[in-house]
Amino acid sequence: MPLKAKVAEAEAPAKVILLGEHFCVHGAPAVSMAVNLYAKVKVKAGRPEPSEEPRIEASFKIHGVKDFLGLSRAIRLAAEAVLKKIGKKLPKGFPSLEIEVSSEIPVGAGLGSSASIASATIAAVSKIAGLTLSKDQVLSLCSIPEKFIHGSPSGIDQATVILGGLILFRRGEPPRRLTPAKPLSLVVGDTGVRRATKTLVEKFGRLLRQKPRRYLQEAENLTFEAVRALREGSFERLGEAMNKSHSLLSRLDVSTPELDRLVEAALNGGALGAKLTGAGGGGCMIALAKPGEALKVAEAVRKAGGNPYFVEMDDEGLRLL
Ligand code: MEV
Repeated sequence: MPLKAKVAEAEAPAKVILLGEHFCVHGAPAVSMAVNLYAKVKVKAGRPEPSEEPRIEASFKIHGVKDFLGLSRAIRLAAEAVLKKIGKKLPKGFPSLEIEVSSEIPVGAGLGSSASIASATIAAVSKIAGLTLSKDQVLSLCSIPEKFIHGSPSGIDQATVILGGLILFRRGEPPRRLTPAKPLSLVVGDTGVRRATKTLVEKFGRLLRQKPRRYLQEAENLTFEAVRALREGSFERLGEAMNKSHSLLSRLDVSTPELDRLVEAALNGGALGAKLTGAGGGGCMIALAKPGEALKVAEAVRKAGGNPYFVEMDDEGLRLL
């Protein structure tokens, strides 16, 4: 295979789920948004000695975390998925790949770090291999590392970080871009508690099966209420839908006292709505602030023991650098 580039770099944003996490695994619609925290992946290709086995090596700089939840294996799977696509399984003489990940997205916190890292790996490795992949093709390859890490994910994380923007997602259907009537002022609050999405998705699935069907319907209604509110720019109604969503998710046992404390603090700090985001069980919450009040909400989250981030929509999603 011709060596097209010696170094390639790509980055992908983080994501937050505004409405519908967990329920989207079971077919309900969800709304998610790519946000401006990034994972950057640099892939260097080096020629191995003829006697050496080709290697894929991953190194990390992720908030001091070396490896978590099998991330290094997932990165390897992402790189191999690209090589398999071009019909090669790292033959001898293929350049060894050194993959360096640096990320501002906390891992195991509900912000889609694994999807960002995996998709950026796929983009950078394909550049090295001289392969031009469409975003749809990256989406499909990204299912391999995502399934390895999360078991049976809905695909919302990879869709959001790859496509960017605000997304209406339903499992098995092409994701749809939404245009909010005005920009959202969002604060993310990190509890600092790290957890595995896979375990939470399994637990949620077990609990949901014991609940009446109206739970799924309620989640679906809240998502569509949020879509209307976003389109009309009625952020009071969006905030209300977020609050109801947090209470619904709490009834299915994916909130925690730490998350509840940050949600309550954000609301007391003037947020229009607040809820856990992602799989829950720790990780992050989001709060929708009134225009000009994000600082006040962030301060309330910080005082309640959370680590606040101000986030804005990333419109572009995955890109080569
Ligand atoms: C994780 O970011 C979102 C979940 O709904 C899982 C999934 O959709 O795959 C909890």
